[in-house]
Formats: sequence, C-alpha cells, structure tokens
Amino acid sequence: MQLVVVVSVFQSVLLGVRACPSLCTCVNGSHGTEELRLVQCSDPGISAVPVNAPPDTVKLRLEKTSISRVPRAAFYNLSQLQFLWLAYNSITSIHPSSFLNLKALRELRLDGNLLSAFPWEGLRDMPRLCTLGLHNNRLSSLPAHAALFLPNITYLDLSSNRLTVLPAELLDLWFPLQREWGGAVQRRVLGLHDNPWLCDCQISMVTSLSMSLGSPVILMDQLLTCSRSLGQSGVLLTQADLSRCMRPSVQPAATKVISPLGSNVILRCDATGYPTPTLTWIKTSVYTNCCQQSETSSNSEQLPRNLESFMQESPRVGVRWSIISLNGLSHKDAGEYRCQARNMAGTAEAPIRLKVVGIIGPSRPPKTVPEKDVFYATYCEGCPTPPHSRWRLEV
Ligand SMILES: *[C@@H]1O[C@H](CO)[C@@H](O)[C@H](O)[C@H]1NC(C)=O
Ligand SMILES: *[C@@H]1O[C@H](CO)[C@@H](O)[C@H](O)[C@H]1NC(C)=O
Ligand SMILES: *[C@@H]1O[C@H](CO)[C@@H](O)[C@H](O)[C@H]1NC(C)=O
Repeated sequence: MQLVVVVSVFQSVLLGVRACPSLCTCVNGSHGTEELRLVQCSDPGISAVPVNAPPDTVKLRLEKTSISRVPRAAFYNLSQLQFLWLAYNSITSIHPSSFLNLKALRELRLDGNLLSAFPWEGLRDMPRLCTLGLHNNRLSSLPAHAALFLPNITYLDLSSNRLTVLPAELLDLWFPLQREWGGAVQRRVLGLHDNPWLCDCQISMVTSLSMSLGSPVILMDQLLTCSRSLGQSGVLLTQADLSRCMRPSVQPAATKVISPLGSNVILRCDATGYPTPTLTWIKTSVYTNCCQQSETSSNSEQLPRNLESFMQESPRVGVRWSIISLNGLSHKDAGEYRCQARNMAGTAEAPIRLKVVGIIGPSRPPKTVPEKDVFYATYCEGCPTPPHSRWRLEV
C-alpha cells in the first residue's frame, strides 16, 4: 500500500503533474473526443490568482472569488490555456503583461468586474484570442490605440460600461471602407449597448452601418441609446445633423505626377464628409532618383514641415480642399504624398506619387515626360503668389 503511494507520487513528479490549487477543483472534461484539463475555482476565500494550476490546463475558471488584481505574467505556466474565465470577481486592475505566454488562448472573459481601464496592448500576448468579454465593468473610455490590438477579435462585449465616445479608428476597423470589402471581410459580433454614449457621428454611423445590407458587424442589441452631445464646433448636434454624418472620402487631383528638376509643382486633394473633415499630408516614402522606393517608416514625415506653401480651405460645409506647393523640385522631394481626411465618422486617404526627372546641369530645363495616368501637374513658374491672408492654415 505504502509502495503504491510512493510510486504514484514518484510518477506525478516524473510527469510534472502538480497538485490542484487549494479551494479549486481540477477535472478532465471532454471537448468532442478530446480530454481536456479543466480547473475551476469559485470560492470567495480565494484572493489571489493561484500559481500552481496544472500546466496542461486548457480551461481555467476563476469566478466569484475575491481576486482584485491580476499581476504580471499571472498565467505564464499555462501555455496550453484556451479559455480563461475571470468573470464576477472584484478585479480592479490588470497588469499590461498579465497575459504573457498565453499563446493558445481563444477566449478571455472578464465580465462583471470593477475594471475602469483595460490594458489593450496586453492583447499582443494572445495572438489567437477571438473572444473578449468585458460587459458589466466600469470602463469609461476607449483609447484610439485599442484599434491596433483588436483586429483579430471577432466577439467583443463592451455592454453595460460607462463609455461615452467611440474612437473613429474603431469604426474604420469594424466597418472597412467599401473598396477594401473585396476580400474576406472580418465579421464580428459587438456588444455596445447600455453605455452612456454621446450622440455623435460615430454612434450614429454604427447604428446605420450595422443595419445596412451585408454589414460586417452584428450588434448584440441594436438599440444604442445616446444623450445629446456637443459637436466639434461646440454646437449641439441635432437629429438632423446626425442623419447627415458621412464618412470622409478623398480625391487627389492626380495619383501620379512627373515633374522636372527645379520646377514648381502643386499637389491638390479634395475631401468630402460630414462633419467637414480635416486634411493632413504625410510623406511616406522616398523615390531614389527614379523608381526604387524605400518604405521604411523612418522616412515618413508629417507635412507641412519644411514646406514653403501649404493651403487649406473649406469652401462650404462638408467639403475641404488642400494644396501643397513644392518649389524648385529636387530629387529628395520625390516620393509618395498621402493626403488623409479625418472626421468623427472615420478616416480616408489617397496617395499621390511624385517623380522628379532630369539631371542637374546648366542645360535648359527638361520637358515634362508625359505618362498615361498623369492628368494633373501644375507648373507655377511665374504664378502670382496666392493671397495668404485668405487661407486658413490648419496644422
Ligand atoms: C486527465 O487527462 C490527462 C491528460 O490531459 C491524463 O494524463 C490523465 O490520466 C487524465 N486523468 C483522468 C482521471 O482521466
Ligand atoms: C510557474 O512555475 C514555477 C515552477 O515551475 C513556479 O515557481 C511559478 O510560481 C509559476 N508561476 C506562475 C505564475 O504560476
Ligand atoms: C492576429 O492574428 C495573426 C495571425 O494569427 C497574428 O500573427 C497577429 O499577431 C494577431 N494580432 C494580434 C494583435 O493579436
């Protein structure tokens, strides 16, 4: 008898099988034909994440305990974990590196806690995560950078929180623009209801886009109530304003411009949208002499740094245009200029490629080289200087 006990202890040590954490139950459950290790802890006496769950745990349920914080690398030994349910505890804080090594995790449920913030960047440690439950917490803001970490999340429940504003970046992620819908559109289920949303274009767009035919988003509850809010201009948005909300679209005057060394060129971009979008220019890549381009992000710069002339005007509500004027072109002006329009309802951008041709020398300036899709390039040699006082500079 004693021998049997000794042998089985010896075996456990050999196999690396650890005891079940105290106040928890460890069982083998079945998932289809597979046997999976399940660990369940739901005792109010538990006040910290257990550190000795068996390493082959696939599903860990820590629910209705008095755990209040999730420390760094709390589940580091559980690299096979696929389901982590931490619902209905009293969690107020989660370390941004809490989820280190959860390579296999598919489902994270944190519903019914006291979270006022969530470390979105921590999602990087769970590349296979697709379900994230955060309903019934105290989240009061969603940062724009959350959109960077949410592309793979296909089920996101943010209902019953204290959210007021949805960043336009999330709208762009969840409802990609039509031209990008050609490929496989990521379909998602979202819970956004029961939050004190302000009535702005984002919420109005979510409601209307999710009801449109073929919408990539299904709302758990279609009814998003919102309270009156101030628009960008500080004026109360009315129902009529909300119905005019329109995502921006940009139209560059040309997508490719070829211009000789030393010449002056004007790049123009027109944007529409409601509220009237803002326009910014970004130079993203450099053409070395002719055709090779390097796309390293270190090359990207926000214009109009070093620009002699940049103008922007909104001739009427919903429309804005912008031009940048480059004088005495040199090879380093060549590259891709991205014109980016942004409003509450989303962002849009379009590239313009500028190629600079010719060699430096005393000879007469080279002629423009026509190319099929060049339909706009303005040479401004001798143009009158625009009356600057009329232009509103907005950067
Ligand atoms: C539980 O599953 C593990 C493998 O995950 C296996 O080694 C063990 O024998 C199983 N235990 C029982 C009681 O079925
Ligand atoms: C991981 O396992 C090691 C020993 O194998 C243990 O010292 C450590 O506390 C465990 N960490 C966690 C977070 O469970
Ligand atoms: C999304 O999924 C891809 C492919 O599985 C993975 O490489 C990437 O890291 C994931 N992204 C995030 C933010 O988790």
